[in-house]
Amino acid sequence: MSIADKVIIVTGGTSGIGDGCSRYFAEQGARVVIASNQAEAGTALAADLKGQGHDADFVEVDVSSEESVEALVERALELHGRIDALVSNAGVWRQGKVTDFTVADWNAVMGVNVMGNLWLAKHIVPVMEGQGQGVICITTSVAAFVGFPAHAVYCASKAALEALIRCLATDHAGKVRVVGVCPGTIDTPMLAASAAGWTQPLEELYADVARRIPVRRLGQPVDVAKAIAFLISDDASYIDAVSLILDGGTLALPPW
Ligand SMILES: NC(=O)c1ccc[n+]([C@@H]2O[C@H](COP(=O)([O-])OP(=O)(O)OC[C@H]3O[C@@H](n4cnc5c(N)ncnc54)[C@H](O)[C@@H]3O)[C@@H](O)[C@H]2O)c1
Repeated sequence: MSIADKVIIVTGGTSGIGDGCSRYFAEQGARVVIASNQAEAGTALAADLKGQGHDADFVEVDVSSEESVEALVERALELHGRIDALVSNAGVWRQGKVTDFTVADWNAVMGVNVMGNLWLAKHIVPVMEGQGQGVICITTSVAAFVGFPAHAVYCASKAALEALIRCLATDHAGKVRVVGVCPGTIDTPMLAASAAGWTQPLEELYADVARRIPVRRLGQPVDVAKAIAFLISDDASYIDAVSLILDGGTLALPPW
């Protein structure tokens, strides 16, 4: 399995899973375009990776804006002349049942999680078709399959991505491979933020959760990065239109 020399855009590449991907891909010799709306973290991460002799650049983007995504694609092409893979990972969450939800919640979550993926695909698929090949890997979530309490809009946004993976793969078959990763409980700032409302201290809560996961630990960003590296590599060239569940076995648990 090799991603060496591949030009890979990682959205949300400055925190959590995306940060893990940017670092791991760069260490594997890829040419990484780190893209997110965290300019300070992105500039520091790219400098850190460059300092270690890796090929990494930061491009600020708001994936919910078509104009901003177009500028990201232009910059990636200016830097490298091609885009081998898009790791479309930027995401946001909101707590709340449907009975609590507001249009602002809908726009925030769907704007990034769903529209972001549509804008990225709209502007990157033509580049990949022109090249004759390319891979898109979208980060969904087990939330696409499980009714997480008080996360209705987030769950709906991730279920939409599972459908989008299949549609993109069939519409652009033969040139663009489209896959997904579907993480379970990964130790990231987003997980910590979503656990903030619980009464238990975070460490205790994580230890309880880890005891219930079949592999007995939370996932780390690098666990997801390694799976994505395989999925976007040429060794995975027969894998298309599906997402890989990466949850340490959680979804297999019976309800007792
Ligand atoms: N952590 C988990 O347990 C878990 C589980 C399943 C799925 N996921 C998904 O994995 C992805 C990464 O999550 P994480 O846990 O690493 O979260 P995180 O909050 O640590 O990182 C999210 C990243 O997305 C970026 N981002 C947010 N809005 C953006 C926008 N409008 N434009 C550009 N970048 C934007 C942020 O700046 C950040 O870099 C998300 O799509 C999330 O839904 C996470």
